[in-house]
Amino acid sequence: MSKTILVIGACGQIGTELTLKLREINGASNVIASDIREGDKELMQSGPFEFINAIDYDSVLGIITKYNINEVYLMAAMLSATGEKFPAKAWELNMNSLFNVLNIAKEGNIKKVFWPSSIAVFGPTTPKENTPQETVMEPSTVYGISKQAGERWCEYYFNKFGVDVRSIRYPGIISWKTNPGGGTTDYAVEIYHEALLKGAYTSFLNKETKLPMMYMDDAIDATIQIMNTKPENIKIRSSYNLAAISFTPEEIAEEIKKEIPDFKISFKSDFRQNIADSWPKSIDDSRAREDWGWQHHFDLKKMSKNMLHSLKIKYNLS
Ligand code: SER
Repeated sequence: MSKTILVIGACGQIGTELTLKLREINGASNVIASDIREGDKELMQSGPFEFINAIDYDSVLGIITKYNINEVYLMAAMLSATGEKFPAKAWELNMNSLFNVLNIAKEGNIKKVFWPSSIAVFGPTTPKENTPQETVMEPSTVYGISKQAGERWCEYYFNKFGVDVRSIRYPGIISWKTNPGGGTTDYAVEIYHEALLKGAYTSFLNKETKLPMMYMDDAIDATIQIMNTKPENIKIRSSYNLAAISFTPEEIAEEIKKEIPDFKISFKSDFRQNIADSWPKSIDDSRAREDWGWQHHFDLKKMSKNMLHSLKIKYNLS
């Protein structure tokens, strides 16, 4: 049976590349992109698009019925930094979009759901190095609280109603195609753009702030891999720890200097420093590696080379 897939939040940083990859695998007409706004040209021209307000149940159900959707990737969310500015809105979007999709799945209209969680579910009392799958979780951001609550609800809907929902705790995601919006880890994307365009970057996190990160290609692979795994091998129905690399602003700057020797980095931390300080420095993702064979392919060096190469082409720099 062929899959019909709906991506909600398809115009965001991860949604854009995920939609393009799913279209490549499943055929463009089987993957419906949706968002509250239009996305970039490549996404809009590569297949069907529908406007959806993820917090409006009828809007989501209408599109699911129209296209006979059987798999949903719910990528719409307000991230950590923006969430602190609009706490009520962040809570409303992050929770109600999830309830809408879980309830539609419970009614039997869709067969499988992907919903991303985040390293933001951890907080200042969590062990910071090699953070285990099961540990103290006292998140201090609205975003983190919403993701932690969401994880509990995913597990609840699986146990009570048999909803096949799968989730991973993304670290900071680094990519060149579509910009991230409103995250604490966004510095690690901005730095590459500014290194090429201005030769300098002022980091909003201080130089020794080490955070778990991952290149987009790995994040997309993990997402598609967990969705293609046999249900019995998904042993965790809240959300899986997932990791690739951890580095500081100083270390990423050193890597960039290998390609752009005159690159200058300076540091001026803002409110996002507190958020970063509450998160883990590295993550133990052995359960994902054991249960469904997760492996990452990009380290800091390979990622940096790939980012700079792709952005040079994007900006028409020789
Ligand atoms: N990249 C996200 C953020 O910084 C973490 O999930 O908010």
